[in-house]
Amino acid sequence: MAESPNQPITSLYVHVPFCAQKCLYCAFYSEASSGELVNRYVTALIRELELVAHDLKPATVFFGGGTPSILNLRQWEQILRSMEHLNLLGATEWTVECNPATVSLDKAKLLRSFGVNRISMGVQSLDEDLLDRLGRIHSRDTVFKSFDILRKAGFDNLNLDLMFAIPGQTLDIWRKTLAEALAMGSEHVSSYEVIYEEDTPLFAQLQAGEFDVDEDLACVMYEELVSQATRAGFHQYEIANFARDTDGATPPENRPSLACRHNVNYWRGSSFYGLGPSATSYVRGVRTKNWSNTQLYCEQLEKGRRAIESREELQPLARAGETAAFGLRMIAGWPFEQFRKTTGHDLRKDWQNEMEQLTHRGWGRLEPDRFRLTSEGLRFADAAAELFLR
Ligand SMILES: C[S@@+](CC[C@H](N)C(=O)[O-])C[C@H]1O[C@@H](n2cnc3c(N)ncnc32)[C@H](O)[C@@H]1O
Ligand code: SF4
Repeated sequence: MAESPNQPITSLYVHVPFCAQKCLYCAFYSEASSGELVNRYVTALIRELELVAHDLKPATVFFGGGTPSILNLRQWEQILRSMEHLNLLGATEWTVECNPATVSLDKAKLLRSFGVNRISMGVQSLDEDLLDRLGRIHSRDTVFKSFDILRKAGFDNLNLDLMFAIPGQTLDIWRKTLAEALAMGSEHVSSYEVIYEEDTPLFAQLQAGEFDVDEDLACVMYEELVSQATRAGFHQYEIANFARDTDGATPPENRPSLACRHNVNYWRGSSFYGLGPSATSYVRGVRTKNWSNTQLYCEQLEKGRRAIESREELQPLARAGETAAFGLRMIAGWPFEQFRKTTGHDLRKDWQNEMEQLTHRGWGRLEPDRFRLTSEGLRFADAAAELFLR
């Protein structure tokens, strides 16, 4: 059900559209940074924060990108001070994404002192050749060094992003990267199979026949991920996400205590503000998207208005269908009661056929209190989820 207009929104995403260099596989909106544009972006972002602050009381904040850690100390300080001024500090969980090459102790300490309490670091691989292959700017050594810096700065909730099924990656290399990454002792691991995004150099190489995709190998790598992560004490709570559990997972979510709350919010269909170029907001049933153009974003905010490119108001059933589709990514699936409370719709009434179809295919499991995808269904979650869209 739509959140009440009297209750402020509790989730904030901020997109930082700059990277030192574009990785060969990446389709997130970002560009190689230039000093002046970054300063202009920071001023525009603060303006955008001012425009929405009256409707925000963040319980979770996520600065993603792009590469938020590329902002320098002065730029970070400007953003953090304005958030302080606008009463936007104090989130229970506040994540900032970092590229290992742009971590420094000064910056890490500054973030920590303003209440950032979770860092997500893009590691991707610990194999030097594969890091080169992906166009990453850091070495494996930098990953270990940056991890230590973050610990030294007081971060006790760290996520590592890994990728598998990278062209040229053998099962053996993947096993080794996984074992080394898990041994680092982070609290959270996210691991994605490479997606060949159009308009990326990696996609062009695939089209040109420079390598083949081996789906069977990708399946074995995913199984290896689940089994190694589980053995290392992580709990899988979403297709690609694993976290440690310090309090004991509680029903109905059965999710580990160090699961990323901000992302769980997305998958459970809650409202959030998304600021910065290309960011999407979903506020009380209305989805808006900012321009994916930093120049244009800045121009709009300099005129005192949000840089919104599109706006879509979803009908309640369509909204519930999307919520169903997102939530099925979670290992806990959708508890019927929770779904009803969130959307006002009953999965057993409006999606009975789809749930039976998936159960029949071996992709889904109907339980007395919930519907969830099986491990096979999770492999094809996008196709399964599509059935729920209205
Ligand atoms: C915004 S980046 C993380 C922070 C920082 N920009 C970095 O790369 O170090 C988000 C994550 O998405 C994943 N990712 C990006 N593009 C991907 C793709 N085409 N296929 C699979 N995973 C991808 C990577 O694991 C990456 O760490
Ligand atoms: S993966 Fe991260 S560092 Fe690489 S281009 Fe994408 S956002 Fe930038």
